[in-house]
Order: sequence, then C-alpha cells, then structure tokens
Amino acid sequence: MSVTLGTPLQSSAFKVLLLGSGELGKEVVISLQRLGVEVHAADRYDHAPAMQVAHYAYTLNMADADELKQLILKIKPNLIVPEIEAIATQVLVEVEEQNIATVIPSAKAVNLTMNREGIRRLAAEELGLPTSAYRFANTLESFRAACDDIGYPNFVKPVMSSSGKGQSRVKNFDEVDAAWEYAQTGGRVNQGTVIVESQIDFDFEITLLTVRAKNPNTGEIETSYCDPIGHRQDSGDYVESWQPQAMTPAALEEAKRIANKVTIALGGCGIFGVELFVKGDKVWFSEVSPRPHDTGLVTLASQFQSEFELHARAILGLPVNTARHSTAASAVIYAGVDDQNLSFSGLNLALADGNTDLRLFGKPEGFKRRRMGVATARAETTDQARELALHVANQVSVHQN
Ligand SMILES: Nc1ncnc2c1ncn2[C@@H]1O[C@H](COP(=O)(O)OP(=O)(O)OP(=O)(O)O)[C@@H](O)[C@H]1O
Ligand SMILES: [Mg+2]
Repeated sequence: MSVTLGTPLQSSAFKVLLLGSGELGKEVVISLQRLGVEVHAADRYDHAPAMQVAHYAYTLNMADADELKQLILKIKPNLIVPEIEAIATQVLVEVEEQNIATVIPSAKAVNLTMNREGIRRLAAEELGLPTSAYRFANTLESFRAACDDIGYPNFVKPVMSSSGKGQSRVKNFDEVDAAWEYAQTGGRVNQGTVIVESQIDFDFEITLLTVRAKNPNTGEIETSYCDPIGHRQDSGDYVESWQPQAMTPAALEEAKRIANKVTIALGGCGIFGVELFVKGDKVWFSEVSPRPHDTGLVTLASQFQSEFELHARAILGLPVNTARHSTAASAVIYAGVDDQNLSFSGLNLALADGNTDLRLFGKPEGFKRRRMGVATARAETTDQARELALHVANQVSVHQN
C-alpha cells in the first residue's frame, strides 16, 4: 500500500486536525508542515503555540460535544490528533465508528487514557501489569477507608486530572480530609472520583517513548522504543529530563515488555509516552499518554527523529527510526510571573555553547508556573548535559512589558 499526500490548501490536501495546540503540538505541526500536510489547529484560547504554525486556527471549547462535532464536520480531516485530555471523547468514538476520520492513535486509547480509572484497570486488571496498589473512591467516607486500606504515605489524584492538579501525597490520617477537599477542586470536571495509590519507593522514573508504526514492506504495525528518558518532577510537573537514563538490562527488557503490552492494547499508530517507575530490575507501570510526552522534548537534541517527527511519520503511515545520536538533556523555562506580552532576554549568552538549543513557545500569556520554553543541551554524559541545559535555562530571563 503506497502512502500518498496531497498539496495543502488545494483539493488534494491531506488534512490533520490537532485538538489542543500547546508546545508539543507545535512541534508536531512543524513536522507535518515539512511533509506538506494541511494542518488545522484548535484550542480554547487564541494564538496558542501550534496555531501560530498551522494553516488554520480555531478557538472553541473542545470539551463541548456539539462544538467539537461541528468543527470536525466542517473541516473533514483525514486524521484527528488529540494533544490534550480535556476533549469530548465520545465525539471521537462516533467519528471513528462512522468512518468520518481516523482518530490518533485510536478513539479507545484517547478515551481510556483521559481517565485514570480506565487506564489503570486496563493495565493492572486486564493486562496484569505491575502497578502501585490502588483504590478508587467517590465519597469522603469511602475515601477515608481507601486511604487506610492503602496505607501511608499514599498518592491521591482526581481521575480526571493531569500535570499534578488536585494531587497530593498523604502522609497520615490527619491529612486525609484536606486531600479530599483539594482533589475536589483540582479535577477537570467536578465529578469527584479519585484514585488512591500506594507510594512506590523507586530509584528513578522514566518515560519510555514507544512508537507504533507500519513496516514499509509488510504494512504491519511494529513497535519500536526510544532510549529511556529520565526526568525530575516537581509538584506534578517535569522540570528536567535526560536521555539515556542508565538502567539494568533486565529492567530495560521489563520496561519494553510493559510498554509493548499496554500500547498494543490501546492500538493504532503513533507515539506513546509510557511512564514507569524503576527500582533495580523491578519496573512498575504508572501511566501512559497516547501522544508525545513533555519529558520527550529532550529528543529534539538527542535523536535523528524527535518524538514529534516520529509521531508525524507514524500517523501518516511512514516508517520511523528511533535511533539516538547524542546524550542530551532538557530544562524547562517558566514564566515566573503572571502576565501577558512577555519578553525573553539573555538569549545570546544562553546559546553561547554550540551544543545547546532553545525553544520559546510563543504563549500569549504567562503564569508563574507556566512552561514558556525549554533549553536543550548535548554533552558526553547525562550529568554534563543536565548541568548545561539548566545553565541555558537559567540564562534566559523573562520580563514584563
Ligand atoms: N504511586 C506513586 N508512587 C511514587 N511516586 C508517585 C506515585 N504516583 C505519582 N508519583 C509521582 O508524581 C508524579 C506525577 O504523577 P502522575 O504522572 O500520575 O500525575 P500527572 O498529573 O499525570 O503528571 P503529568 O501530567 O506531569 O504526567 C510522578 O511522575 C511521580 O514522580
Ligand atoms: Mg505523569
């Protein structure tokens, strides 16, 4: 089967609709643009990063089923590429069933991973993968019981939340009621269900970027893996990442086994960010994003095909190469202030070392803890790369105008 792409803005155009237009989507759009794909970018606010590099931009509430359905019927995209979780996913299920468009990687994957309960039950109960012990609760009463059952310290997360929102680490029974209150206000929808997870005492955590793409000769979907990415999280947000993360051969094999099982179960083509906890040879599944992962920004500096190019290629039915050419690290640049119309200075000094690079996302508004850019660096070792990437990030100062 030959893959054919048309000319953007003409009747032959191959159209992709991106749902969510953040910094990860922006890089995916750039990769698609290079192959002459016509890109339509949607988000809930104007001038989102990916909108700035797409052919068309739409501002709407993607969690509203009617608005989303109308947009899809108007554009008639070949592919729909969700970049965030807050989407009316039942619309994607319909669209896939009615063959209106292909959902990346699949409506099932998007639907299951938007809710921690769906993906956790799939991984632990259906696939039998090792995870932390867990309970779900939807009342304060059942939550107290769940915490006592799981023990302390534990992690509490609204099932519909990401990036640390509404999450807490509960150290003892005295903190239980406050954690419930916090979870109720931090979720995406005020639906109330939370997961209580036992704390895994890991040595380190990794993202194993896993790609499902068609073999050009056989047309069969095959799985390949990027080298493991190590990262450091602060308040539910990644602050630095590096590749490769050293680990034992047995742990790496187990990580791939877990990633393979969970991505096959989710189905479709594209990249997945499989989050895993590692201690010695032991590996636990934590969660998975059926799309590029923020910690994978490091692949812009370390791989021949970044996670964004890998995603673009895989979803178009093209072959992929997950090989790494360098050891590298990334460090996040925060706004540090709540304001719009920000400026970034010190860039010339930040980039003085030829092994460094920078992405500034062009977000119209900053918040103290909003990611506005990322620094990357290549070096001999991951420690050196981390130091250099942090140095680059620190050289960039953000100003109000
Ligand atoms: N059961 C656990 N044991 C130990 N650490 C945990 C556990 N659950 C979460 N953490 C820590 O909290 C971080 C965030 O958790 P998780 O990935 O589930 O939340 P998230 O909101 O999806 O975060 P993100 O959107 O940044 O991936 C993890 O990367 C890990 O560092
Ligand atoms: Mg996570």
